[in-house]
Amino acid sequence: MVRKFLLPVVCLASTTFVNAQKLDFGDIFKDAEKQTQVLIKNTDEARKENDKLVSPRTLENGKLKLVASKDWTSGFFPGVLWYIYEFNKKGQWLADAQRFTALIEKEKTNGTTHDMGFKVYCSFGNGYRLTKDTGYKSVLIQSAQTLATRFSPVVGCIRSWDHHADQWKFPVIIDNMMNLELLFEASKLSGDSSYYKIAVSHANTTMKNHFRADYSCYHVVDYDPETGKVVHKQTHQGFSDESAWARGQAWALYGYTMCYRETGDPAYLAHAEKVAAYILNNPNMPKDLVPYWDFNAPNIPNEPRDASAAAVIASGLYELSQYSKGSAKYYKETADKIINSLTKSYRADKGTYQGFILTQSTGSKPANSEVDVPLNYADYYYLEALLRAKKIKEGKKLF
Ligand code: GLY
Repeated sequence: MVRKFLLPVVCLASTTFVNAQKLDFGDIFKDAEKQTQVLIKNTDEARKENDKLVSPRTLENGKLKLVASKDWTSGFFPGVLWYIYEFNKKGQWLADAQRFTALIEKEKTNGTTHDMGFKVYCSFGNGYRLTKDTGYKSVLIQSAQTLATRFSPVVGCIRSWDHHADQWKFPVIIDNMMNLELLFEASKLSGDSSYYKIAVSHANTTMKNHFRADYSCYHVVDYDPETGKVVHKQTHQGFSDESAWARGQAWALYGYTMCYRETGDPAYLAHAEKVAAYILNNPNMPKDLVPYWDFNAPNIPNEPRDASAAAVIASGLYELSQYSKGSAKYYKETADKIINSLTKSYRADKGTYQGFILTQSTGSKPANSEVDVPLNYADYYYLEALLRAKKIKEGKKLF
């Protein structure tokens, strides 16, 4: 599918965003606590049958699906617990966050995947930020060391996947931008600048090769590991190679905003703003700003939404609002609108969905996997976005 539009300028004067409801953080977090208590109980129960499974990921036919620590989503549930603890500072939540975080530790030496940031930064990273536990610090540094082994100086990137070796030689997916935060943090914690340099190289190479003229991005770019040349640009979870998979665009927005925070390089800020413009001006973005699973999905408006993409976009926009020279207010109000939509229309009723907070996310539509379901990362970025909104409201800096 060819995208027939190119709208590079963010619409600053939209009136859609003026009447954002007031967010009642106390009430929203109280509800999130209650839901998550249900999820903890159900998870503890399910782990009695198989304690190799560590975190709840989603529902399959209404049944709770737990994953092992090696799964890319294993860190989000501990992350949810850390965010609730950050809000309420209650000892029981600290204990639960510590308990589920500990179950991820062995991933620090797992070099078979790029998902180290998702797994370890969302769990141990938040744990270290909130407790300064030196054991957590060591885990973060060791995890970065392991992740760095997947970096190729020839390509200039960290290799994402090892699977489908017959199909790809050195695949790099846009999601990988999210794992760079762990490397930036590990540089600060260890004083070893090599992690920082790897992160910058990865971000620059991705900026060059993953994006189209309209600042939408491909999902997968496959490189020749001998020469560093691009071999293919494709999708894996999107509608087509040339379409804009919603969560991929969200990872890009969040990833380049974070890279600007960590480096101060204005090229990253400019890039994040261009990606934001692509997302927010997209004619297929619904009024409530919760995207369909792909901006070019063929049957819009009869396509599943992806609440996880909305949550990532909201969290990214709150941070972007702290850095933007011209559009700060617009980004903040847009993020408020997304969070209001999610809060009002996408939350599970109390006690339902086994205790997940948000409904209507989409994992991989082409694989018919996790379509219109709760997903742990939707909950994680939703709570993160709420905490960012609260800090901004209190006049605090996010970082
Ligand atoms: N990182 C995998 C996904 O976004 O589905």
